[in-house]
Amino acid sequence: MQNILFVCLGNICRSPAAEGVFLSKIKEKGLENEFRVDSAGTSAYHIGEPADHRMGRAASRRGITLPSRARQFKREDFDQFDHILVMDHDNFEDVSRLTDDPEKLKKVRMLREYDDDTGRTLSVPDPYFGGADGFEEVLDILDHSVENLIESLRHQS
Ligand code: 4NP
Repeated sequence: MQNILFVCLGNICRSPAAEGVFLSKIKEKGLENEFRVDSAGTSAYHIGEPADHRMGRAASRRGITLPSRARQFKREDFDQFDHILVMDHDNFEDVSRLTDDPEKLKKVRMLREYDDDTGRTLSVPDPYFGGADGFEEVLDILDHSVENLIESLRHQS
């Protein structure tokens, strides 16, 4: 069993969507018993909230449900999870700042390191203050990044 945590700022848009995409793909592939997945935010802004309704609707049009309730990333997550996938450079800094243990820091990666079509950035763009297109763009990015992540992880176990 590998434990996977997705992290963004608010835990209401990008990371719950990554979690939902991951859950949907492992179900499709029959790998539900191989992974445990969760998501968290670096901020406390939206603790307890479900995914943003715009992201929820965009995901649901693709047949993906987003079960998560927002929570804040905490130091113990370094012990509970094997892989911590962050959405942007700010998330990377905010998470990394919480430990100086190199073994824990090794667990933290940018999700788009698994994207083979990044253009110029390794960030998943924050859709919160933008229009509807932003949510579709995030889901497109997550679709291939999470696919490649799962394929990479299943060969590690
Ligand atoms: P997320 O998006 O980090 O993808 O969940 C955001 C959600 C809320 C805020 C910013 C980004 N906010 O400033 O409240």
